[in-house]
Amino acid sequence: MGKNIEINEKIEKYISDHSCDLNSIQKEIIIHNESLGDVKRMQIAISQCYFLQLIIKTAKIKNILEIGTFTGLSTLSMALALPKDGKLVTLDKNKETSKKAELYFKKANLDNKIEIILNNALESMKNLINEKKTYDLIFIDADKENYINYYNLSFQLLNKNGLIIIDNVLWKGDVSNPNKNDRITISIRDFNSFVKKDNRVEKTILPLGDGITICRKKYL
Ligand SMILES: C[S@@+](CC[C@H](N)C(=O)[O-])C[C@H]1O[C@@H](n2cnc3c(N)ncnc32)[C@H](O)[C@@H]1O
Repeated sequence: MGKNIEINEKIEKYISDHSCDLNSIQKEIIIHNESLGDVKRMQIAISQCYFLQLIIKTAKIKNILEIGTFTGLSTLSMALALPKDGKLVTLDKNKETSKKAELYFKKANLDNKIEIILNNALESMKNLINEKKTYDLIFIDADKENYINYYNLSFQLLNKNGLIIIDNVLWKGDVSNPNKNDRITISIRDFNSFVKKDNRVEKTILPLGDGITICRKKYL
């Protein structure tokens, strides 16, 4: 068996340097996020942009629901991988960052594929359920305390064999550190245990970025 490696910033950079190239607007969003200081940590890792794009293309995904837009890096990355007739709905409650994201989507000529819904994400998901909307992929990347709620609601919005992908499931590695017991770490640990016991899905955690879980809804 190979020796396990520590996934640190250097390795993340190495992965990015040896994967595909980013589009000019993705780069622009990253530069903008860097100017925001600490908040920049909200965006997905560059390695995750490539990963999401490859999954979307290989699984032939057409309809995506995203929970947590921020300034739009994950949204734009996923939308870039969609086929011509693909659509993405992204949910966020922050007016300011959503407005910024919208500007980038227009600049990338992808605003026709992307719909932003500005509201509390749980409310938006319930509305989408009432409207009988369904998706091939649901990407969860918003407030961690609601992860179990987002995950459970996702089952009413997911197509047969659909995927749920969840970010930040390793939370800087804190999930496996018994000395870290803050509110968010506990929420993520609870979420990971919940998914582990959930027989509705096949799943795995990949140590990309801050840790990403991929769940495939079983066709029962
Ligand atoms: C980690 S960031 C998303 C990052 C984004 N996926 C990216 O790659 O740039 C989380 C986002 O969730 C949003 N959010 C947090 N709680 C929310 C809620 N209850 N309803 C809707 N959006 C929420 C925040 O406004 C923030 O923009």
